[in-house]
Amino acid sequence: MRRISLSRYLIEEQREKHWIEGDLRLLIEVVARACKSISIAISKGALADNLGSAGDENIQGEVQKKLDVISNEILLEANEWGGHLAAMASEEMEHPHQIPHRFPKGEYLLLFDPLDGSSNIDVNVSVGTIFSVLRCAEGITAPDAEAFMQPGARQVAAGFAVYGPSTLLVLTLGHGVAVFTLDREIGSFVLTQDAVTIPADTSEFAINMSNMRHWEAPVRRYIEECLAGKTGPRGKDFNMRWVASMVADLFRILTRGGVFMYPQDAKHTHGRLRLMYEANPMAFIVEQAGGAATDGRTRILELQPTGLHQRTGLVIGSKNEVERVTRYHHEA
Ligand code: F6P
Repeated sequence: MRRISLSRYLIEEQREKHWIEGDLRLLIEVVARACKSISIAISKGALADNLGSAGDENIQGEVQKKLDVISNEILLEANEWGGHLAAMASEEMEHPHQIPHRFPKGEYLLLFDPLDGSSNIDVNVSVGTIFSVLRCAEGITAPDAEAFMQPGARQVAAGFAVYGPSTLLVLTLGHGVAVFTLDREIGSFVLTQDAVTIPADTSEFAINMSNMRHWEAPVRRYIEECLAGKTGPRGKDFNMRWVASMVADLFRILTRGGVFMYPQDAKHTHGRLRLMYEANPMAFIVEQAGGAATDGRTRILELQPTGLHQRTGLVIGSKNEVERVTRYHHEA
């Protein structure tokens, strides 16, 4: 079998297809290298005293885990010196991180959630890293939050790593979605799936049912119809899955279809997930795989961001189901 490493895949995208520039190739390679280091830190777990809380809260008021802090540091350190970035922004930092003056600056902006699903770390369930790449407008030397305020449709690349039974890297450069699996023996990501396609129909949904009493009517209607099964209006039985790590739930949806929902509701009035480094990259990837993503009313990639850490409702996955939920919102 011909094995295509991530490096070779990226070089072919640059040299043969002319889809990416050298700096973007470097950026993706650096992020992937950081994901390998994060994967190692996670797999050592308690052996390296890496589990548990760091004893602090992040900007979202969430308790930071030691691995949140470690992963953030790994990504910052890896990306500072290559000359490919204008600035970075992270879930774990209130303001954008500037490139130190001693290093050259590039034209890209990198946003990341260093460790998504971190409440799952201590219980040994899959977690991941999500990232989004934007271009910085010309002439900006010290990009502030305003420089990042671009709708998701302007992303030039996005991806996520899943640290599960295998370590995976899911990547889009705007021309479809590819999946790479980390070969630990040779230390490189190897292409294991190309042109990923999400089935348009599904009978599997993912939602935190404990929020049911807070839901808005269209979401309640959709889930009640799924739960009614064969004898209900949908005429088929549905299955439910909720890993509570979006990376794992979304990888399942990329593999066999499904719909993932974290809608805005009476408890999460602006939604729960972050637009810039969770919903936008996932929406870009899922659309590139033939799926869809909305906040219930508007396509995620068309939302104009107003804050680095802004939250949004999210309904994402198999196209026909996402369109149905959107229709229920419009009918309401
Ligand atoms: O940071 C977001 C996140 O951890 C997602 O990965 C996950 O889907 C969600 O929160 C879990 O939310 P809850 O704790 O409500 O199940």
